[in-house]
Amino acid sequence: MHVRLDHVTHVYGSSEESAAVQVLDDVSLDIPSGDFAVLMGASGSGKSTLLNLMGAVDRPTAGRVQLGGSETSALTETQLTQLRRASIGFIFQFFNLIPTLTVFENMAFPLSLARRPRPEIAERVTAVLGQTGLAHRATHYPNELSGGEMQRVAIGRAIIHRPQLLLADEPTGNLDSANGTRVLELIHSIHESQRPTIVMATHSAEAAGFGDYVIHIADGRISR
Ligand SMILES: Nc1ncnc2c1ncn2[C@@H]1O[C@H](COP(=O)(O)OP(=O)(O)OP(=O)(O)O)[C@@H](O)[C@H]1O
Ligand SMILES: [Mg+2]
Repeated sequence: MHVRLDHVTHVYGSSEESAAVQVLDDVSLDIPSGDFAVLMGASGSGKSTLLNLMGAVDRPTAGRVQLGGSETSALTETQLTQLRRASIGFIFQFFNLIPTLTVFENMAFPLSLARRPRPEIAERVTAVLGQTGLAHRATHYPNELSGGEMQRVAIGRAIIHRPQLLLADEPTGNLDSANGTRVLELIHSIHESQRPTIVMATHSAEAAGFGDYVIHIADGRISR
């Protein structure tokens, strides 16, 4: 999926309050379909904000965000939800697994929400359990997993519907280096085999090396 930002500004809090925080200042960005872009910048520079705009979780204060052919500000909440469910996968720093669901059920969750037929869900989850190296953990609960395993479950859940856009927010931020490398190799292999557009925020130089190029963000502006 082609991701394009035109003159995007983002401000948190009302502009009338002194507490308003301007995070993005006239950002324009073009990420062609199938690219693996890495987003780097200091803590608080706006990486998560940018990913939320690209993921249609939030809309910009000003400017346009285009995902594929559609402009997010022109879509209703329902349409944004549909777009996210059909085309976008998210991977978070803190995994965000559902503790009361097994590995299998966590991975199946987006397909269950989309009311896909059970045989299709079973087939997809089985394939992704294999892809993420978690077949032997299918019936386990998140609190029975290592951090690296939890993140691989979260990646499985993010790709279960074969999204055209995969957004990762510091996916190795809570992992030791061996588990971090394994997670990066998994993201790399997903990129190789399915060619989604990937945008990954990270503080790690090793992680950045897995992408095609780095986009730097500082003082509300970006540079490549
Ligand atoms: N919901 C919010 N309301 C007000 N301010 C916010 C909100 N979310 C983020 N901010 C502020 O916006 C700025 C950018 O935050 P963001 O989370 O995008 O940074 P980041 O680059 O992801 O940082 P980190 O590397 O620490 O994750 C920060 O100054 C933050 O305090
Ligand atoms: Mg962040």
